[in-house]
Amino acid sequence: MIPKLTLTRPDDCHLHLRDGALLQGVLPDTARQFGRAIVMPNLKPPVTTTEQADAYRARILAARPAGNTFEPLMTLYLTDNMEASEIRRAKASGFIHGVKLYPVGATTNSEAGVTNILKCQGALDAMQDFGIPLLVHGEMADVSIDIFDREKVFIDRFLVPLNHDFPALKVVLEHITTQEAVDYVAQASVPIGATITAHHLLYNRNALFTGGIRPHYYCLPVLKGEKHRKALLTAATSGNPRFFLGTDSAPHPRTLKENACGCAGCYTALHAIELYAKAFDEVGALDKLEGFASFFGADFYGLPRNTDTITLVPEVWQLPVELFIADSTIVPLCAGETMGWKLWTSIPTIEI
Ligand code: NCD
Ligand code: ZN
Repeated sequence: MIPKLTLTRPDDCHLHLRDGALLQGVLPDTARQFGRAIVMPNLKPPVTTTEQADAYRARILAARPAGNTFEPLMTLYLTDNMEASEIRRAKASGFIHGVKLYPVGATTNSEAGVTNILKCQGALDAMQDFGIPLLVHGEMADVSIDIFDREKVFIDRFLVPLNHDFPALKVVLEHITTQEAVDYVAQASVPIGATITAHHLLYNRNALFTGGIRPHYYCLPVLKGEKHRKALLTAATSGNPRFFLGTDSAPHPRTLKENACGCAGCYTALHAIELYAKAFDEVGALDKLEGFASFFGADFYGLPRNTDTITLVPEVWQLPVELFIADSTIVPLCAGETMGWKLWTSIPTIEI
C-alpha cells in the first residue's frame, strides 16, 4: 500500500482571490489547504495603496470559513511614479509582503501597469532599503515578440539590467515557464526566487490544442514546449530553495473563458496541492514536495514556517466538471478527470 503523505501546511506564494461574491466562493478552496497566500493586487481598480490593501485584506478575512486561520499576505500593484512614501507606509503596515510589477498590457488587468521602469526608481530604491520584494510578471508586453519568447526576452532586456541596478532588491520571478528562467534564477547572484505553478509542471503547450482549442488551459505566461516543462519539473523537485510553490490560480467565469477572445487564467485552487502531488509523484519526487510547498516560500519572505500539517492520501477521485460560484460557472483545470492523491480532511466528531 502506498503510504499517506503528511506535510507541514503549505503556503501559496502567488494567488488571485478576486473580490466580492467570487472571493467568497473561491477562498474556502485555498483556505482548506494553505496556511497563507501572497495575494495578487490586480483587481479592478488595482490595489495601489496600503489603505486599499488594508480594506481588501479585511474583506478576505471576513470571507474565511468559520474557525479557519488562513492568513492573506497582501501586495501592492506597482504603477508609474509610485512614491517612496507609499512603500514606507506599506512596510509600516506589517501586512504587505511584496509589490507586483505588471508590464502594462502583459496580462489580465495590467492596464495600469508600469510603462517605463525608470518611472519607478524611487519606489524600487525604497523597496530595496526596506527589504520588500518586487514580484515580477516576467513577460514583454510587446506584441511584435513571439508569445513563446516573451519570458526569455524579458529576462535579457529587463530583468538582467534591473538586477544589476538594484543588486540588493529581493525579486520573485513569478510563474516561470522556461528553461531560460530556471537557469537564470538558479545562477543569479542577487536575492531572487521563482514561483512555479502546477499547470506548468503538468502540461506543455499541446494541452491547448488537443483535438481543438482548449481555453481552460490558457493562462499567461502561456504553456511552453515539453523541454521547458521538464526543466521546470527538475527545478521544482531539485530541493533548490529558490524555487517554490505559487499556484497562480486565476478564476474567470466560463463565459469569459469559452469566448472568441477568452481570458487568461486557470482555476487550480480547488485541487492545488493534489495537482502538485501528481506532478512530483510522476517523477518519483514526493519527498521533495514539502520543501517546495511549505518551506522555501516562507523562508524567502522571511516568515516563520507553518507549524501544523496537512495529509494527502492515495485515493482515486473525480473532479467536478464545473463549479457554481456566486452567479458564475467556473471550470477547474482538469475538469471531470480523475486524481490519484486527495487532501485528507478529518470528519468532525459528533459529541453525544
Ligand atoms: C492572471 C489573472 O487572471 O489575473 N491570469 C493568468 O493567466 N495567469 C494574471 C496573471 O497572473 O498573469
Ligand atoms: Zn497571476
